[in-house]
Amino acid sequence: MIKDIKAREIIDSRGNPTVEVSLFTNQGKTTSSVPSGASTGSFEAKEIRDGGERFGGKGVLEAVSNVNNKISSALKGEDLDPLKIDKILIDLDGTKDKSNLGANAILGVSMSVFRATAKKNNISFYDYISANFDFEQKIPVPCFNIINGGVHSGGGVSFQEFMVVPEKDSFSENLRFAVEFYKKLKQKILLKYGANSVNIGDEGGFVPDIKKTEDVFNLLKEVDSSASLIVDVASTEFYKEEKYLLDSDLKNKEEMIVFYKDLRERFPIIGFEDPLMEDDFTGWGELKKELPDILIIGDDLLTTNTKRIQKAEESNSCNAMILKINQIGTVSEALQSAKTAQELQWKIIVSHRSGETNDDFIADFAVGIGADYIKSGAPARGERVAKYNRLLEIEDEKKQQEK
Ligand code: PGA
Ligand code: ZN
Repeated sequence: MIKDIKAREIIDSRGNPTVEVSLFTNQGKTTSSVPSGASTGSFEAKEIRDGGERFGGKGVLEAVSNVNNKISSALKGEDLDPLKIDKILIDLDGTKDKSNLGANAILGVSMSVFRATAKKNNISFYDYISANFDFEQKIPVPCFNIINGGVHSGGGVSFQEFMVVPEKDSFSENLRFAVEFYKKLKQKILLKYGANSVNIGDEGGFVPDIKKTEDVFNLLKEVDSSASLIVDVASTEFYKEEKYLLDSDLKNKEEMIVFYKDLRERFPIIGFEDPLMEDDFTGWGELKKELPDILIIGDDLLTTNTKRIQKAEESNSCNAMILKINQIGTVSEALQSAKTAQELQWKIIVSHRSGETNDDFIADFAVGIGADYIKSGAPARGERVAKYNRLLEIEDEKKQQEK
């Protein structure tokens, strides 16, 4: 039973305030914290921020107060039934985008309720998810963001994320490969671009002084010419007046598609995320037709929203989705999105946000739903490796169980 809920304002990896929620039940305390994006999609659930001068307008005291007052009053005394509680939260908010109570307020509570329920059942959170919501468990393949651009970089190339995707036999080997790749890349950048070029962006990837997208791919090829790559173009961020401003070249949709085809021919790219703007379902369909054998991954296009997933399926726009729980605002709706994507036989990439905390919720969540991939930034920086290190622990636990 829920005895009490207490939220507070904490600081995320970018130095912005975010919401942390502690839930008190008969089993004790369960705490979760909420991440926050920079290149957010227009169709995401809305976090609420205070405005005014405090923290440059980014304070979350109103969201915190919503948890401590309205939400707490509505939930105190309720049994731990996560689906029912998420429904109460959705109804109490009463808006489509959770802008009344704030997706940041709602999600912190939803995460804690799910975790507390696993604790009550005396099982790990990943076991709880797969057993109770009918998913087949799997340890996801990690996608490591090793070069940052776009709005995560303050002056890098236009593409937001260059991710290396190792294909070893275990998670720990994948992590080792990524760490070695990251260190070799650092040495290469130092040699080629000098001491000031190994500064890093929001997700821990380097931001070398490179002006052209293609040169980033050449650099990565020098480190390891066979390593598979996924890129998050986050193209909506550089789309204005029907054109894409790519590394100071203006391109229309057709030219972007030609550009992607050319990159795909020359480099070991296995997926493009958000290659076109967030509402161009038709354009995405055209690109997918041209590149049928790689992952065309919807992030801002889908915003972890089942209606948008269905729309994308109808227009044949993609074959993979980014799953970010805070895009939709409750864990049960995120589980629903995962189910929908799996029924369509899409690949799922569970994702962190560029503004993170040390909460490792998504590691268990990804294993529990049997996600194909996870992206949590570089194999460096505390808030990024919290997730990877939890996956190492889960891999160990599962090995022990097999013995
Ligand atoms: P965001 O970036 O968290 O800043 O939205 C991550 C992404 O676009 O995948
Ligand atoms: Zn993205």
